[in-house]
Amino acid sequence: MQQRDIRVNDLAEVVKIEQAANRFPWSLKNFEDCLLAGHHAWLLINEQNEIVGYTVVQVIVDELHLLNICISPQFQGKGYGRHLLNKVIELADDQSASVILLEVRRSNHRAQQLYLQSGFNEISVRKGYYPAEKGREDAILMAMDLSFSFQ
Ligand SMILES: CC(C)(COP(=O)(O)OP(=O)(O)OC[C@H]1O[C@@H](n2cnc3c(N)ncnc32)[C@H](O)[C@@H]1OP(=O)(O)O)[C@@H](O)C(=O)NCCC(=O)NCCS
Repeated sequence: MQQRDIRVNDLAEVVKIEQAANRFPWSLKNFEDCLLAGHHAWLLINEQNEIVGYTVVQVIVDELHLLNICISPQFQGKGYGRHLLNKVIELADDQSASVILLEVRRSNHRAQQLYLQSGFNEISVRKGYYPAEKGREDAILMAMDLSFSFQ
């Protein structure tokens, strides 16, 4: 497994995976804006040089915001999501961040399980934050408090 920064040339394939893995995917422009903004954006690549997944993280002073994490459907359930999330936690370590924050759909139990197992806690709910098939869906705001770990 290798990890490297997402480049503009990768975005067509990234968007394909994003669309295959999410009911409400990010657009190409969402990814372009993240690259322009200088967010951390990484690919996970396997030995066959296939994109297994990716993540996008924004650093705001001492907070890390996990904006996107996605594993291509064909590679899900094999530990790659946890691997990528651990890389984000390592980044937080490197940056001496005090907290990692993320939002997840209330219906996304798989991702919530991963976050809970990795040490995130639910800290609040943003009512109707996401569009949904029928109306809106709540976001669960989750945090990993690192203020005691790295200092
Ligand atoms: C959520 C996601 C990133 C997890 O990545 P993954 O590679 O499939 O997950 P892993 O194989 O690393 O499994 C990690 C943990 O996730 C949970 N998980 C994985 N597959 C699951 C499933 N089918 N049902 C319930 N929980 C599941 C488990 O807690 C698992 O830990 P365990 O195997 O020790 O029980 C991936 O499924 C994905 O990209 N989903 C679509 C995009 C998405 O929802 N992103 C998150 C937005 S907040």
